[in-house]
Amino acid sequence: MLTAVFTVDPTAIDGALLQRAAAVLLSGGLVAFPTETVYGLGANALDARAVRGIFAAKERPAYDPLIVHLADVGDLGRVARDIPPLVSDLAAHFWPGPLTLVLPRCAAIPLEVTAGGETVAVRVPAHPVAQALIRAAGVPVAAPSANRFGRLSPTCAADVLADLDGRIEVLLDGGPTVVGVESTVLSLVGEPVILRPGGVSREALEAILGPVVVSERPVLPTEDLPASPGLLLQHYAPRAPLILYQGTPAAMRAALASAASLHQQSQVRVGLLLADEDLPFFAGLDLLVETAGSAADLETVARRLFSALRALDAAGAEVILARDFGVTGLGLAIRDRLTRAAGGHVVEAPPV
Ligand code: TXA
Ligand code: MG
Repeated sequence: MLTAVFTVDPTAIDGALLQRAAAVLLSGGLVAFPTETVYGLGANALDARAVRGIFAAKERPAYDPLIVHLADVGDLGRVARDIPPLVSDLAAHFWPGPLTLVLPRCAAIPLEVTAGGETVAVRVPAHPVAQALIRAAGVPVAAPSANRFGRLSPTCAADVLADLDGRIEVLLDGGPTVVGVESTVLSLVGEPVILRPGGVSREALEAILGPVVVSERPVLPTEDLPASPGLLLQHYAPRAPLILYQGTPAAMRAALASAASLHQQSQVRVGLLLADEDLPFFAGLDLLVETAGSAADLETVARRLFSALRALDAAGAEVILARDFGVTGLGLAIRDRLTRAAGGHVVEAPPV
């Protein structure tokens, strides 16, 4: 199949183009589109066969459920039931936006979407192109991130094509995404639990809900995996193995510098993922370096995180050594993604 790329200006949306993309969705096809977090790979959430197409295009295992996207909180009753009263509070604060709520599923939502479960994950994305697409289609849109299973989420159209060109009918190119990490997934089945930290911080949720638990998400190790290509893909990562360093800024810099020089001695091409303020400490060294922004500006770090990792891959890094950005605000989501990219390979840098 040929993937048609439609360039859409989010500030002046071409209604005719969006109608064409919506028609593809309604005929059972797949349309990748920008959201404020990352690009999504959309199908009509009410069409089980179309939803199976998402899993095939992504090579995603059927046990991993999808998020259903709505244009408006008013449509929530089409996908979820037994909606607790606090949803209206959360929706008022965070929708449209990077918050996904897990609720009991309506029968109209096929089990393909929910991976056989009785709950459904729902969000109202804030991106104008996502909004326009869902409105034009007039149906809820199931969409995981538009990457092959196990790889980094795409934050621009080129990232989507790198993984899915020829596997999807349409890609709406609305430019780079702004949040850069995926939505926060909050379960409201029972006590509220953050299943995945993301674009809405724990602190912002706690301002409304009071203390919220963050569930431990299992991390698949990148090492010691059986030599099956399918399993090796599951580390959700850049191609190069990644090691995450945690500690004070001085401790992280010292540990990164000594690890980098050890790797260099064994002729391994090292890529470093740093913060802007780390740069002076690594000046003049023959290393591949990317900064995602200042550690004091986590919005920028989140926005640039995945593209910085992709850039290190593209530059030929054979190992990526990354610094940590703490757990305050977006730091928690950044740490979660880096820990996953590292397959749990996290080093506590000794104090200096
Ligand atoms: O920002 C985002 O959330 C992006 C954009 C495209 O909306 N989507 C995204 O989808 O990241 P995906 O499929 O890559 O991640 C969805 C996450 C997975 O961790 C999945 O296990 C979880 O949400 N999830 C989906 N349905 C669930 C359910 N019913 N119960 C618990 N977790 C669920
Ligand atoms: Mg994903």
